[in-house]
Amino acid sequence: MIRRPRRNRKSEVIRTMVKETFLPIEKIICPLFIIDGKSQKVKIDSMPGVFRYSIDEASKEIEACIQLGIKTFILFPVIADTLKDTVASESVRFDNLYLTAIRTFKKMFPDICIVTDVAMDPYSSDGHDGLVKDGEIVNDATLPILAKMAIAQAEAGADILGPSDMMDGRIGFLRDALDEAGYTNVGIMAYTAKYASAFYGPFRDALDSAPKSGDKKTYQMDPANSAEALEEAELDYNEGADYLMVKPALAYLDIIKLLKDNFQIPIVAYNVSGEYAMIKAAGMQGWLDEKKAMIEMLTSIKRAGADIVITYFAKEYAKYLKE
Ligand code: PBG
Repeated sequence: MIRRPRRNRKSEVIRTMVKETFLPIEKIICPLFIIDGKSQKVKIDSMPGVFRYSIDEASKEIEACIQLGIKTFILFPVIADTLKDTVASESVRFDNLYLTAIRTFKKMFPDICIVTDVAMDPYSSDGHDGLVKDGEIVNDATLPILAKMAIAQAEAGADILGPSDMMDGRIGFLRDALDEAGYTNVGIMAYTAKYASAFYGPFRDALDSAPKSGDKKTYQMDPANSAEALEEAELDYNEGADYLMVKPALAYLDIIKLLKDNFQIPIVAYNVSGEYAMIKAAGMQGWLDEKKAMIEMLTSIKRAGADIVITYFAKEYAKYLKE
């Protein structure tokens, strides 16, 4: 035998030397759920180890993350039902929870990068990402609402905006609105190929944001489609997106690769709540080694072509890298 691939696997040193994929902590974005109140750190049943934090507690969490090398955070607000309405008006109130959180964190930690969520669902009494009229999620009337939300977030100090709503034309609409308001340096991380996925279940528990009626299939993509992801990517790119995101990640590694092979801007993968919950649940049962599964999953997402990974394992992964 001339070719013996096992020679390159014979020792730890050699294995590390020939390793093709590294995922350093600088490539990780940590999601944080923000709730109202003081000294609150509330468990999420379907996401063991992940919490909803009041702003003061979240600040401590950010500090701990910074110590571990995590510098980018994506924020999601938990909004009381009493503040929700059909047009998501709470989302642009100057002193609301979300905008206050952004301002507080940027003031306390000027060097971190804050990514926001632009979509109506946390604030919508209908639980949809867009405006609902006669049972339909209407596209064009949603855009100005998203634009107002985006400008409020930019004004609060957000570095990058993350439109997760999947309305058509929203990237261009937001880019125009931001530029016109003078926020030419605020970036857009487009949720480009966002699939109508069962893996968002735990997130909707965390935010209590599940749709009140129907599902999200008229705006989020069909898991069976990949050519459509290319179309979405082309649109988002041409409309001015700075990042293209694929979400979820694990069941969509081919989509990550597809976008990576066809576009030159950074590709982001969102390793979503259900992907986290799956590994946690099996780990707690003793059915698999949680830590090894986490490393394998995150490495695979990187190997597929993701430049940046959003994951609820951020802190645990950072701790593993420090070991
Ligand atoms: C909604 C939004 C969702 C997630 C991020 N933004 C859920 C949804 O589309 O219902 C899911 C993230 C996760 O599951 O971790 N704008």
